[in-house]
Amino acid sequence: MKLDFTNRSLNCDIEVPGDKSISHRAIMFGAIAHGDTHIKGFLYSEDCKSTLSCFRQLGVEIKELENEIIVHGKGIQGLKKPLEHLDVGNSGTTIRLMSGLLAGSAISATLFGDASIAKRPMARVIKPLSEMGANIKGSIDGNYAPIKVTGTQLKGITYKMPIASAQVKSAILLAGIHAEGETRVIEPNPSRDHTERFLRAFGGAIFTENNEIVIKGNQQLHGQLLHIPGDISSAAFWMVAAAITPGSEVKLLKVGLNPTRTGIIDVMKEMGSDIEIEELESTGEPYGNIIVRYSNLRGTVIDGELITRLIDEIPIIALLATQALGQTTIRNAEELRVKETDRIAATSEQLSLLGANIIPTKDGLIIKGGSKLFGAEVDSCGDHRIGMMLAVSALVTDGPVILNNADAIAVSYPTFINDLNKNLC
Ligand code: S3P
Repeated sequence: MKLDFTNRSLNCDIEVPGDKSISHRAIMFGAIAHGDTHIKGFLYSEDCKSTLSCFRQLGVEIKELENEIIVHGKGIQGLKKPLEHLDVGNSGTTIRLMSGLLAGSAISATLFGDASIAKRPMARVIKPLSEMGANIKGSIDGNYAPIKVTGTQLKGITYKMPIASAQVKSAILLAGIHAEGETRVIEPNPSRDHTERFLRAFGGAIFTENNEIVIKGNQQLHGQLLHIPGDISSAAFWMVAAAITPGSEVKLLKVGLNPTRTGIIDVMKEMGSDIEIEELESTGEPYGNIIVRYSNLRGTVIDGELITRLIDEIPIIALLATQALGQTTIRNAEELRVKETDRIAATSEQLSLLGANIIPTKDGLIIKGGSKLFGAEVDSCGDHRIGMMLAVSALVTDGPVILNNADAIAVSYPTFINDLNKNLC
């Protein structure tokens, strides 16, 4: 795909699609609750469609209307044994959360996904779930998909997580809902807390204090009416596009502002971005408008607990850093090695092809800003976020960018390239 955006700018209001993490959980909680869950703002992307079709295979009735999805939940006991293996596609959230959810069910199922899923570590969920008494087996040394889960009666545990991961935390909590006794999860630092918010909203008993989350076992959840805000991880591409392209101003409408996800805003402010937040009234997940204008930027250091709050935004932050004055250092981000692709390698390799001065390290990136990028042929490496970062780079290159494997973008934001093309001035 040829992206010829040189000397163009952006001046627009954009409503980005619904939050991916929240959309997955909306279907999952709707399915194990009793009664109907109405979902507005669901993200129709490849990843979330995988979750939707897995639950249909489990016998959950899901109605798709023009502006909402209705999940007819019949509780965990309402799930039916699927006739075929469950295909999670490219979605790590689907396979890891469903492993926990199915572990305490009354059915057995096998979860598998695409070539990227087959390479991602699964022991991180299999280990704690096994401690809860789950009958769960991974492939190849037990660490990889396909994962076979045979539902059984679980018992609550206390689990001290070695890494901050919302997927691991959520798998344990989803298993804990139907376990005997209390389940306690201790995080090294707070990861996104959508699952905890869902548990509370669906009438569950959950207590959080500092980095500890405790839930009661054998709980019954009840269907809810949900409004899903825009995904800040999708908004991030527009935010950076506006920040690095002279003459640009973008207003992003109704974007999720959950504090466990807003690290990108903190970093952009620190780098000197012209960025304004208008918070809107909310009873569930916080949300609001984000306005970003072009400005001069300076390098920064990104590490420690901040990494968890912006883990999915690091590829686009790397592009931002190429346009800043001075050096940006990103460290403590070794988790990027096991995302949809090795994002440390993919980000540094692809941005280097465009002339960026970027060095990969074992747990991050060192970017020397201020180098002029040129048009070249690059590849999404099958990773949606690498694909969108490279599409945005075409705004600051001196000639067209040829983006191969652009279809990977559909995993989280199917209309991104179209929306970008439509809004260029
Ligand atoms: C997600 C958690 C994060 C994030 C992923 C979505 C979630 O993964 O990178 O895109 O929805 O829980 P980890 O839990 O592996 O950090």
